[in-house]
Amino acid sequence: MLARLLLALCQALLLALCVAPSNDFDWTKTDRGSFYYGTFPTGFSWGAGGSAYQTEGAWDKDGKGRSIWDVFAHKKGKIFLNDTGDSTCEGYYKFKDDITLMTEMKLNHYRFSISWPRILPHGIKTEHLNEKGIKHYDDLINTLLENNITPIVTLYHWDLPQILEEKYGGWQNVSMINYFNDFANLCFERFGSRIKYWITFNNPWSVAVEGYETGEHAPGLQLRGTGAYRAAHHIIKAHAKVWHTYDTQWRSKQKGLVGISLSADWGEPVDITNQRDIEAAERYVQFYLGWFATPIFNGDYPQVMKDYIGRKSAQLGLGSSRLPMFSSQEKSYIKGTCDFLGIGHFTTRYVTQKNFPSGRGSSYFSDRDLAELVDPRWPDPGSEWLYSVPWGFRRLLNFVKTQYGNPMIYVTENGVSEKIMCTDLCDDWRMQYFKDYINEMLKAINDGVNVMGYTAWSLLDKFEWDEGFSERFGLFYVDFRSKNKPRYPKASVQFYKRIISSNGFPNQREVESWRREATETCSSSNQLLAADPLTSHMEMVSEIVVPTVCTLCILLSAVFLMFLLRRRF
Ligand code: NOJ
Repeated sequence: MLARLLLALCQALLLALCVAPSNDFDWTKTDRGSFYYGTFPTGFSWGAGGSAYQTEGAWDKDGKGRSIWDVFAHKKGKIFLNDTGDSTCEGYYKFKDDITLMTEMKLNHYRFSISWPRILPHGIKTEHLNEKGIKHYDDLINTLLENNITPIVTLYHWDLPQILEEKYGGWQNVSMINYFNDFANLCFERFGSRIKYWITFNNPWSVAVEGYETGEHAPGLQLRGTGAYRAAHHIIKAHAKVWHTYDTQWRSKQKGLVGISLSADWGEPVDITNQRDIEAAERYVQFYLGWFATPIFNGDYPQVMKDYIGRKSAQLGLGSSRLPMFSSQEKSYIKGTCDFLGIGHFTTRYVTQKNFPSGRGSSYFSDRDLAELVDPRWPDPGSEWLYSVPWGFRRLLNFVKTQYGNPMIYVTENGVSEKIMCTDLCDDWRMQYFKDYINEMLKAINDGVNVMGYTAWSLLDKFEWDEGFSERFGLFYVDFRSKNKPRYPKASVQFYKRIISSNGFPNQREVESWRREATETCSSSNQLLAADPLTSHMEMVSEIVVPTVCTLCILLSAVFLMFLLRRRF
């Protein structure tokens, strides 16, 4: 009897232990009913963003050198419909108009990136400095500041000078650390007196995995099982070096902050009572966010990455792990090199344990021993990978708080896309997405997460990497077929503007009225007309030209008839 009681007690204890880690977060999984009405802390910064290759165009103008994306996009079959970023939004020429759009929305900050080959066409400082490129960013920064918009500047949003890829193998090569540091140092020297927020790398996960492991992104290398880890290793060291450069040479004069922008989906266990699923979900987030954040905040790669990749490398008979190691000096040099953490977040996955035997070849993906699933009920208006799961955002933000000692966070990317053919400016799904995700961020702030600003992604529709122009993330619709690349506000512009002016969500009645009013300004047919020159041309033909010509014909026939009748009698 006593033995049975003990056994039951042990079982209950075990179950409680299994469930406990996920229960920590259960309160975050809220449904629509629990929308939280309230406002953000005073001084909270609202912004929007874009990046050089995605928006600038002018790919070969004013002395700019080629980047790996220029070369990659020009290769047939790499990008959807073989699109390129050659001209994209023509942001290089239209930035003043774009700043007017930002001013009308009353944005507090704008996030953009500096194209490395635009100011260093050969990648290297000692070779050639392109003053025209420098002038462009000078003008952009000055115009932003004149309009009271704080620039948040990314140094690397994926456009490595092509020459560095050709000569050295890009991020596979340790020499990139010094080249990147020189480029960053130059930016601090030339722009730093006016910049308070620097981001070293944008989403290094994509650079490493998609650039050097799967090859879907530039430079398109498929070095499975090793390429991503090596690229990431050099990127982490380069980030740390740039942070130290700023810290020792510029901080006291310029008084800015240097951070990094990491992207991460949230991973939720499929079965929250199954310990293996719980661990698989944790691994998913560690291999995504922890890969970069743990060295930067805590000094080394996550233990789970070291264990899994180490074990799988040994099973393959390799003498050392495919995950490179940091020396103890490197660990202390890297640890703590982050004044604020940028978070780019779009979506969530359910995660379950799945074994990938090492025999079948190694890759970053199989190293994780997990499978990703989605709930078919989650809305997915645009990109195939982007499901709207707002509660995942709050969980991710709380994860950052607990894992990395509650750092200062700027949300550097959050938003949703629509599909290529969609010219409807009444983007109801985007308003819903922003409303729900921003609300979850507000709840996270109330949980004690230190979020200081939010960047809607993106200001404009733009070149969406390997997807070309087929996925539109913009608050503003861009007509890419028209030479002048006109911008048209989607309904979400109005909606986001209201969130900004109220610094949150004052009450249900008001928030509902924002939605109604935003939708009223964008009656689909009118906007379709505005956004689609082909449609508007057809409409002009059918509504103006045809009736006018018909009336003229009738009038002429009448005159002709009268003339004939007169002659007869
Ligand atoms: C993250 C990238 O940083 C950004 O450039 C891209 O537009 C978004 N993901 C959406 O795919």
